[in-house]
This record gives sequence, structure tokens and C-alpha cells, in this order.
Amino acid sequence: MSSPNVFLEFLKSRRSIRKFKPQEVPLETVNRILDAARYAPSAGNRQPWTFIVVLNKEVRGVLAKIHAWAFPLEGAPVNIVVACNKDASPHSFQVDCANAAMYIMLAAHALGLGTVWIQSLRNISEVQRIVKLPENHVPVAIIALGYPDESPGPRPRKDLSEITCIDEFCK
Ligand SMILES: Cc1cc2nc3c(=O)[nH]c(=O)nc-3n(C[C@H](O)[C@H](O)[C@H](O)COP(=O)(O)O)c2cc1C
Repeated sequence: MSSPNVFLEFLKSRRSIRKFKPQEVPLETVNRILDAARYAPSAGNRQPWTFIVVLNKEVRGVLAKIHAWAFPLEGAPVNIVVACNKDASPHSFQVDCANAAMYIMLAAHALGLGTVWIQSLRNISEVQRIVKLPENHVPVAIIALGYPDESPGPRPRKDLSEITCIDEFCK
């Protein structure tokens, strides 16, 4: 187990990657990432997620057109649709699956791969149709995954003092 400082620096060094090398990601590597994602916390440990690994170039091309900022899905050799069964966890499905999506991104980062979270909650029925999800399975996120072909600097973050209160809301 690495030291706490190393882990905090690891968290801070993740970046959204939108430009990927064409190099394929071995399925074994994808499986290692998804294996780690299984350990994400979920309400009542219901694990309401299904991971749809999209490798097909044509399907990725269609997903990449669901909105203007979905374009990284086309260049990324792997897309992972994080689908959530809303009946299995009616109050928490979105946060449960957001946790799994974040685990995917961090596991990928640990293995030297890049990711970006693509918004899918404004295009639910469209994504359901593209990857044949049943109506009660909501695509909470689509993760573009691949070897990075860019190394962007950190995006600005709010100062801690701006977002922290002690004991009660202080804005
Ligand atoms: C819920 C959510 C939706 C996002 N949707 C998109 C998106 O559709 N397209 C995109 O390029 N980035 C998207 N992002 C990535 C954010 O733009 C990015 O995380 C943010 O700018 C901070 O940059 P960083 O991830 O490099 O720290 C999304 C992130 C989250 C958490």
C-alpha cells in the first residue's frame, strides 16, 4: 500500500483526457479496471450497475454524436456505458453509479490510461437505444477510455475557504 501523500497526489494528478492514441486497450486491462470498479460503495451494497464495454467503432461514432461534448468517445478505443438499474436502487442509483464511474476513472489512471466522463443524463433514451438497454437501466455516465495523447494541466479549482463551512452553512 502506498503512502497517504502518494495517494493524495495520485488523486490530484488525474485529468480529463479527450485525445487518445489509436492503440487498442487489451481486454485484460479493461477487465482489471472493471474489477476494481466493483469495489465502489453503493447504498445497501446493491451494486445496481452494469458496465457496457463498447469497442465497436461504428457504435462509438454514434455515441460520440449524442451531443457536442461527447466527441471524445469516437477517438477513445473503449467506451464504457455505466448503466444503472433504477428499480434496484430507486433513491440512490445515480450516486451509486457515479461512484462506480469514478472508480473506473481512478483505476484507469493508476494503470496509466486516460479517461473523460461523458454526460449521458440528458440523452437517456437515445443511449438506451444505441446500446440496447432496458427502460429501467439508466446510462448514468459514459467513460471514454484509452492511452492519452495529450497531457493537459490542472483545471482551476475553487479555493478550499470558498467551499468549506464549519458546523453550519456559511455562505
Ligand atoms: C457529471 C459530469 C459530466 C461531464 N460531462 C462531460 C462531457 O460531456 N464532455 C466532456 O468532454 N467532459 C465532461 N466532463 C468532464 C469535466 O469537464 C471535467 O471533469 C472538469 O472540467 C474538470 O477537469 P478534470 O477532470 O481534468 O479535473 C464531465 C464531468 C462530470 C463529472
